[in-house]
Amino acid sequence: MRPLDLTADNIEAYLAEQSANDMLRFITCGSVDDGKSTLIGRLLYESKLIFDDQLAALEADSKRMGTQGGNIDFALLVDGLAAEREQGITIDVAYRAFTTPKRKFIVADTPGHEQYTRNMATGASTADLAVLLVDTSKGILTQTRRHAYITTLLGIRHLVLAVNKMDLVGFDKATFEKIEQDFHVFAEEIGAGEVTCIPMSALGGCNVTERGPETPWYNGPTLLEHIETVDITSAETEKPARMPVQWVCRPDHTFRGFAGTLTSGVLKPGDPVKVLPSARESRVQRIVTIDGDLETAVAGQSVMVTLQHEIDASRGSVICAADAPVEVADQFEVQVLWMGDEEMLPSRPYLIKLGARTVPGKLATPKYEVNVNTLEHTAARTLALNEIGVCNLSLDEQVPFAPYEEDRDLGGFIIIDRFTNNTVGLGLIHFALRRASNIHWQALDVNKQTRSQTKNQKPTVLWFTGLSGSGKSTVANIVEKRLTAMGHHTYLLDGDNVRHGLNRDLGFTDADRVENIRRVSEVARLMADAGLIVLVSFISPFRSERRMTREMLEAGEFVEIHVDTPLEVCEARDVKGLYAKARAGQIKNFTGIDSDYEAPENAEIRIDTSDKTPDVTAGEIIEYLENAGRLKP
Ligand code: ADX
Repeated sequence: MRPLDLTADNIEAYLAEQSANDMLRFITCGSVDDGKSTLIGRLLYESKLIFDDQLAALEADSKRMGTQGGNIDFALLVDGLAAEREQGITIDVAYRAFTTPKRKFIVADTPGHEQYTRNMATGASTADLAVLLVDTSKGILTQTRRHAYITTLLGIRHLVLAVNKMDLVGFDKATFEKIEQDFHVFAEEIGAGEVTCIPMSALGGCNVTERGPETPWYNGPTLLEHIETVDITSAETEKPARMPVQWVCRPDHTFRGFAGTLTSGVLKPGDPVKVLPSARESRVQRIVTIDGDLETAVAGQSVMVTLQHEIDASRGSVICAADAPVEVADQFEVQVLWMGDEEMLPSRPYLIKLGARTVPGKLATPKYEVNVNTLEHTAARTLALNEIGVCNLSLDEQVPFAPYEEDRDLGGFIIIDRFTNNTVGLGLIHFALRRASNIHWQALDVNKQTRSQTKNQKPTVLWFTGLSGSGKSTVANIVEKRLTAMGHHTYLLDGDNVRHGLNRDLGFTDADRVENIRRVSEVARLMADAGLIVLVSFISPFRSERRMTREMLEAGEFVEIHVDTPLEVCEARDVKGLYAKARAGQIKNFTGIDSDYEAPENAEIRIDTSDKTPDVTAGEIIEYLENAGRLKP
């Protein structure tokens, strides 16, 4: 405990801190096989935290199932609740609250397949302490190391290693000490906080809430004693004030309130503040809550702040103590935990949710991957499910942030797939990269409009997508010939050709195709900027990248043309003889055979060359351009 030195100034902060210390949020990591359900069940049961009706049902169930010879099977309790949950809407993490005379607890239980760290990471992001379960008979497994690594990475400073199933090794002291020692070595290497190892048998009730006579050699606390007394006083209120704006409340022109949760520090009316990213300064005018105005707001409180000046701030802005503003950047070095079933694709645009903002961004090829067993850094081209690596992140916009080490709220982000909306990863900001912010846009006098006007056309990208052999290049070639005959200025970018030069270092893995399209999109954008009509003929099998290109261009500039020739027809034509080789297994990752093609859903033009001649098809495309007004200035 810190010595009490209370003044009128800090008393509110002290009280808020104390009430925070009355509540411990923890997470249990491990699988049912390690005895996780039994452990949580026993903890709830022995602290008399189960409702009477649940208890009656549990006793009846245990007798009926007979899994524990007439004794209560605590796993049935937790699994029963899990089954109940699964009938309803799917939730990733179940939070259960319980109270003892000493403290209130919220335990995050993370059901679902144990190989997925996704649920675990969600529960861990708000926890103070993590209980890692180990089956004594198996010792420390990769999974335990991974859990320790992730919880530490997420800023949990208190780890409990529940060395469970001690009954299976006859409560042997040496076995416990060996596991304890191994874990301490690992914990030190990853920079974990305080580590407490407890020998226990969740099944027999040893050292869960009551000291077991089976371990007379153990002098430490039981699990309950430990979680009741561990000091989790955080120094959040001592940090500078920061409040990410969740929404702006403007009922009329006289009132403008910024609502959000104060993530650190203390805020009072009159305090000088700086609002990022606009970097404008003002002072706090009022702190409004439904229970009336506050004299002081402290970390953890949700409030609405009004400022003395009219300042531009929107969702995702951060109100900071004026002398300690957060930084603003769009390029970072980050650590990523990949949680998607499909591997991470460098260069693919994902959505990055950081603080109260969600912006598109791209991850670069990892600098390295971390082996969670040995902590070695190994080379990696991508990250698969559960893998951890370090890479650069580039966002489409500048965002206010703080390094994760300093601020869990403004330094941590999640990665979302733009099509499925699934959370596919989790990241922590190490630091911002300065180099890109030192490169300025050069203002030029001749612009896209001037360039295209002199060419009597509107810049346009005709994007031909379809299977190999579908006829993309044949049709694109005729369209280009006709356009030049009409006096237009064009360029045709063809996959086969570009792969001989600019993209000769790329193959046909998903990651390489994503990079292939990223580069050709950038080139097409430059050519559109030059005022040209650009014809792009690439398989471009993925929706994400085609959408990315569309979004890089102005409205109307991107014309997606799906050359929708059926696979059977392409394969029967087999102009280059590649389908035969792919079927024979001589070419791997061939589109349509063993690599996906995601057909467009809303292409501007859809053509099937199996029922029309290339000339007719080309005519239709020219007609589209004329109708859309692209062929005049
Ligand atoms: S993309 O998928 O990355 O857009 P791109 O259009 O550049 O592909 O190149 C496709 C051309 O490469 C095909 O027309 C074909 O000639 C050739 N090719 C060679 N191997 C493959 C493969 N595994 N899958 C598809 N095309 C291949």
